[in-house]
Amino acid sequence: MAEKKTKTVKKTTKVEAPVEAPMPEPRRSVAFIGSECYPFVKTGGLGDVMYALPKALTKQNCDVKVILPRYKCIPEKYQEKMVYRGEFMMDLCADGHQYYVGIMEYVWDGVVYDFIDNEEFFGWGNPYTNLVDDIPKFCFFSKAALAALNYMNWVPDIIHCHDWQAALVPVFQQAMFGGTPVAGAKSVLTIHNLRFQGIYNNETIKYWTNLPDALFDYAVLQQDWVDSNMLKAGLSYASMITTVSNTYAGEIQTPFYGENLDAHLRYHNHKLRGIVNGIDCDLWNAKTDTLLTANYDSKDAVKQKKANKLALQKALGLEEDENKFVIGLISRLTNQKGLDLINAIMPALMDGNTQVVVLGTGDAQYEDAFRYYENAYKGSVCSNIMYDEGRAHMIYAGSDALLVPSLFEPCGLTQLIAMRYGTVPIVRETGGLKDTVEPYNEYENRGNGFTFDRYENGLLLDACNRAKTLYFTDRARWDEMVVRDMEKDVSWENSARQYRNLYLELKP
Ligand code: ADP
Ligand code: GLC
Repeated sequence: MAEKKTKTVKKTTKVEAPVEAPMPEPRRSVAFIGSECYPFVKTGGLGDVMYALPKALTKQNCDVKVILPRYKCIPEKYQEKMVYRGEFMMDLCADGHQYYVGIMEYVWDGVVYDFIDNEEFFGWGNPYTNLVDDIPKFCFFSKAALAALNYMNWVPDIIHCHDWQAALVPVFQQAMFGGTPVAGAKSVLTIHNLRFQGIYNNETIKYWTNLPDALFDYAVLQQDWVDSNMLKAGLSYASMITTVSNTYAGEIQTPFYGENLDAHLRYHNHKLRGIVNGIDCDLWNAKTDTLLTANYDSKDAVKQKKANKLALQKALGLEEDENKFVIGLISRLTNQKGLDLINAIMPALMDGNTQVVVLGTGDAQYEDAFRYYENAYKGSVCSNIMYDEGRAHMIYAGSDALLVPSLFEPCGLTQLIAMRYGTVPIVRETGGLKDTVEPYNEYENRGNGFTFDRYENGLLLDACNRAKTLYFTDRARWDEMVVRDMEKDVSWENSARQYRNLYLELKP
């Protein structure tokens, strides 16, 4: 009789390696060209996008190089890690003078950053000073970026340029780089803010670009027979134009939002797309953010946000009371951001149970107005007239609501960051604000924030009052909105996929 074998089955816990989703094929190479990029230099949302989108694109099988000016103001800790990649001389102006172009490289998180070095243009001041200096600076930068790609022998499938500072790239590419390797790349020009176009007199732009006279035509550079417009020329020459939300893509084709380029954009609208921005969810993560007093996710947000609120109140000298309704405003202080509406309603907003925390710099009239209100409502209003990343994180986490009542807003990132931190946005229904904040619907108990349409004081006040009503009379539903906001997908993933698909449409 065969011996009966007893098999002892030893239980082992097998640790499975995480299965990475396969990269979409084919691979695409992209050169990002723009004037700012977090953490090297940032003045607003463009800096965030130049950092986060390339990172997101690497996960969509894109090989990305970011080309930036090597400004003197880039912190030393990054400057010292840059590696010399080479140098060459380049002509630029009508007089044939040769300019030095150095390339310094920094590789980080799968993205290659190449900094264009030149003391004369970038060795002093801030990224943006005044147009007299900025026009030559960005003419040089746009041409040097193309020359650097040829020099490095790295010819991308796509050259993706951002805003007016890089708008001449497609123009130089086609007018002056024909027959060189970089001529074959397709170009995408993204409008982050149509208000800024790089307009200066014809003679100056002719001098600094040395572009042929034929391009100073109304279809390309000509603005009004006195001035030339760098963004307009880029829009004419780019293979594709994108802007940072679908609603803004429509708005800029109308006179109100078109900044005098609406007709030009309507003419080119066959190649215009809106792709909404996202945010970097590793950078903006309340669970891991080291700048917060209490870390949280959607499960403990309601409790932990109170700890952050108290810490914020304490740090800023506001009355420490977790039941006050804290409204944040983190913004460049310019008329784009709807500050006239906020100023007009401040007295009506301050009801004894509301606090306002402002963080921003910009036009003196707004800086002064917020200083005035801080003084008029001591202990309830705090105006931080400064640029401070750390303080921004504290305000996103410690506020109940964030105001973004913009006159126009191409996308807006602050409302996305606010939602990610469980802070309810109060926004005007324009541009990306309209596309990203679903209005609260009290009948279905859904939505992410409070919205209003026309640019009127009373409508902003009404939106704030609706928010307060929910906060003070139905906290359970308010808290549900906090959780909904934290769980909303504001990442780059979906939009990065759309950019990738666009790149694929543009066959080199
Ligand atoms: P815009 O680009 O028009 O200024 P966005 O909403 O797209 O507006 O992006 C603004 C970015 O700048 C956000 O990351 C916001 O947190 C940041 N920011 C704006 N003002 C300040 C400030 N004073 N201090 C710190 N961060 C700021
Ligand atoms: C611009 C716009 C802002 C947008 C940002 C990034 O600065 O004003 O709405 O979010 O660019 O695209």
